[in-house]
Amino acid sequence: MCGIVGYVGSKQVTPVLINGLKKLEYRGYDSAGVAVMSDSSDEILVKKSKGALKFLVEKITDEVVKTSKDMSDAQAEKRLGELIEKTGTIIKGNVGIGHTRWATHGEPSDLNSHPHTNVSGTIAVVHNGIIENYAKLKAWLQDQGVVFKSQTDTEVIAHLINYFYEKTGEIFKAVLETLHRLEGSYALGVLCTKYPDRLIAARKESPLIVGLGRGENFIASDVPAVLEYTRDVYYLNQNELAVLYNDHVDLFDSDGNKVVREPSHVEWDMASAEKGGYAHFMLKEIHEQPKALTDTLRPRLIFDGDKAKDIQFDEIDFGEDWKQAGRIVITACGTAYHAGVVAKYAFEKFARIPVAVDVASEFRYRNPILNKNDIFIVISQSGETADTLAALRLAKAAGAKVIAITNCVGSTVSREADEVIYTWAGPEIAVASTKAYTTQLMCLYLLAIKLGKERGSLSAQQYSRLLSEIAAIPEKAQQILDNQSEIQKFASQQFNKSKIFYIGRLFDSASSLESALKLKEVSYMHCEAFAAGELKHGPIALVDPDTLVVAIATEPELYEKLASNIVEVKSRGATTMAITLDKKGAFDNCCDSVITIPDSEPALASMLSIIPAQLFAYYCSILRGNDPDKPRNLAKSVTVE
Ligand code: AGP
Ligand code: GLU
Repeated sequence: MCGIVGYVGSKQVTPVLINGLKKLEYRGYDSAGVAVMSDSSDEILVKKSKGALKFLVEKITDEVVKTSKDMSDAQAEKRLGELIEKTGTIIKGNVGIGHTRWATHGEPSDLNSHPHTNVSGTIAVVHNGIIENYAKLKAWLQDQGVVFKSQTDTEVIAHLINYFYEKTGEIFKAVLETLHRLEGSYALGVLCTKYPDRLIAARKESPLIVGLGRGENFIASDVPAVLEYTRDVYYLNQNELAVLYNDHVDLFDSDGNKVVREPSHVEWDMASAEKGGYAHFMLKEIHEQPKALTDTLRPRLIFDGDKAKDIQFDEIDFGEDWKQAGRIVITACGTAYHAGVVAKYAFEKFARIPVAVDVASEFRYRNPILNKNDIFIVISQSGETADTLAALRLAKAAGAKVIAITNCVGSTVSREADEVIYTWAGPEIAVASTKAYTTQLMCLYLLAIKLGKERGSLSAQQYSRLLSEIAAIPEKAQQILDNQSEIQKFASQQFNKSKIFYIGRLFDSASSLESALKLKEVSYMHCEAFAAGELKHGPIALVDPDTLVVAIATEPELYEKLASNIVEVKSRGATTMAITLDKKGAFDNCCDSVITIPDSEPALASMLSIIPAQLFAYYCSILRGNDPDKPRNLAKSVTVE
């Protein structure tokens, strides 16, 4: 995710762009920039800067926002507003595009910030998304003599448009030809000095709207950026383009045919607009999981037509060290640790390699035994968790090869690890992690399956079947989200229970850990998770009529055992629920509620069974009057011990 804003009209465009980007701050960003069609020359003026938006403003105005340490936040905010207005006197023009970046390819830096231009600076582009085939396009362009300035995937778009502009002589055609060569996701804003009265926009997967004003028109990644000017918008459809002038907007399909339709009228207020109409970021991010899983999965699958035929990790060299590895050691905290526990089952099942998993806060102090042929994996959404960083440094000091799985490009973990695998989940604003978790699982499953093939523990047929199964996960996640009424109803009946237990076996015991944490974090209800077989070794003493027991059941060969565990607690008065793959009524007689998830390979179902648990936690939280986005006592990133 990131923020795109564009404008064509009579206002000074630079303040409009920056104020619009400010309204998209919740989409997260690590750098920002603007490109403005100069009103005094036929050139595009570009200014961009690493860091928060205020650094861009300071760069443009050559002034500091916070002039004294005793300046209050409100005073600093006011001064920022004044300087933003001042940018309009420095970079003058009425047509422009702006961008706040959430890096996926190339660390946050001035050079990697958007907008990106062609070599001559006559074309400027801002982009939200991932160009999956950028490496091939970049190599081809470099063979044509193009010199790249940045490490980003986006820059190939600017040079490709230039290539086709030189061939066709017309910017719209050049953009259209370029889009036909791009694979992956994009929301684009494009300027060209030869067409100073317009901007071109295009969309595939990443969101983009067109705001319709009076004598002015806008593009933006999301509604909040235009609400102060207009509530009439086009939500660009898949593969659609728009050409914006100050007095009208033309829409086109991917073949360049004009599209005519009525605009939508936005009813939301600003607050709900930032959450895409959802009541909370947590619910929005739960619903973003199908796209986050697709964004994380697709660039790592090689297809032959519609059939996935191999896994590729550009960022990982599956050399001898992986083939000869004696063990995998995984360490992380909280939700990321739970992803590691699921991964243990996956690596041991698919790659038949022993896995040790530990919470980083324990690992770092127990003088761990690390062997030279260990593969060491740290998992961290923020990439800044103190305990996880300490564990990473310990492993590196011991000479282990460290792989990081993180959601934040340029984070400390990503810079200190030997190799980095990114979860392309986009910024996760809610403190309780949801889409970061499922995309961590996606990366870990892909690693485990790939390793299973490389080490010969998976046959070609098993590998092929697993690829088909994993490719279908995002769409199955969507099916769960489309059918959540039973979960919402059950939450309304159970949100006052005094004790909740999540139980499961094998993968499901791992999923129970994360399910319980979600509920604890946002509802403040006392909740525990443990392997179902452990009930009789103590915890069942706690079971009484004020207890809810949720069984996660995606291991068909263990359904019977789990059902008898449920009967044990039911006979002691507990309320029971199952989250299961089963469709034959295995739990109908012992559960008060059964949430079924779409058929899938049981070993991959952990990416699906967690979604009902996330939703259950969310609904319990709001039923108990909590703010699920900002739970008490918690921080999004625990950068202290
Ligand atoms: C998850 O919902 C919590 N916010 C917390 O447990 C979190 O997973 C943990 O602090 C680790 O954070 P990280 O993934 O950024 O390292
Ligand atoms: N993939 C592009 C980059 O890394 C765009 C990322 C974004 O959506 O902000 O620069």
